[in-house]
Amino acid sequence: MSIQSLCESAEEITVKAGSLLLRHFNKPLKINYKSRFDMVTEADLESEEFIVNHLSGLSPNIPVVSEEESDSDKTDHEPGPSEFQWIVDPLDGTTNFAHGLGHFCISVALTQNQKPIAGFIYDPVKNEVFKAIHGEGAFLNNRQIKVSQNATLEKSIIATGFPYKVREFTSNNLAEFCAFRLVTQGVRRFGAAALDLAYVACGRLDGFWERWLKPWDTAAGVIILQEAGGLVTQYDGTEYSIYSDNILASNHLIHNEMKKILITPWPDIVSPILQLI
Ligand code: IPD
Ligand code: CA
Ligand code: CA
Repeated sequence: MSIQSLCESAEEITVKAGSLLLRHFNKPLKINYKSRFDMVTEADLESEEFIVNHLSGLSPNIPVVSEEESDSDKTDHEPGPSEFQWIVDPLDGTTNFAHGLGHFCISVALTQNQKPIAGFIYDPVKNEVFKAIHGEGAFLNNRQIKVSQNATLEKSIIATGFPYKVREFTSNNLAEFCAFRLVTQGVRRFGAAALDLAYVACGRLDGFWERWLKPWDTAAGVIILQEAGGLVTQYDGTEYSIYSDNILASNHLIHNEMKKILITPWPDIVSPILQLI
């Protein structure tokens, strides 16, 4: 089967999983905790089962790596040996979903030799499909998208996120969040990293950074953003891999300004706060 037809089917599967999520949205949910703040709902698991079964049926020789089937505590999520892989987040934005906040998505990527070559992100609440195939541009509901033209942080709105283990990790992003707030029009924490990347791709946001994300959070968003003319690196400007532990994504123009803030050694502002609460 050609990459093109694989991708058409992957897009259909992603969108159908969105309808499945909507059937659970705003209804009572069975919830389990993976750690203090990290939930998994029955909707995550049903969406995952649906996507994994359909992708495996579509391309039995391409392994599927999906969040809830993987060991989320492993920090290194090393690539498997196969040339091609599907990488799936069956529900990105679980915390929003569980609280009835309509900002979440499904993220499906195809990688070749560990690099994303196609990505699909579906927001079922807004009915928005973001997609890209390497070399063919990026699209939102079949209209081509491009990154923004804002050239300075002062004119920019950017987004970030925090790890679930925000109390345990010293590099927990809180100091960086404060720093960026002082030099931008605004910093948003929407709660779905795949959509954050898609929003940079279509110019709603100018930049995004986060630490401790996993391949399923970023794989689809990275190819969509690159195909929309954006730049994705690690904080220090070096090459990003979906197995990296930090990501800096932007419209290109504000990349250096963001990098300067992210390579600054910020003090730990969490330990003193934890002593007070
Ligand atoms: C989370 C979201 C969130 C990010 C977290 C991710 P999940 O994914 O993408 O925005 O800050 O670090 O783990 O758990 O909702 O799939
Ligand atoms: Ca996720
Ligand atoms: Ca998830």
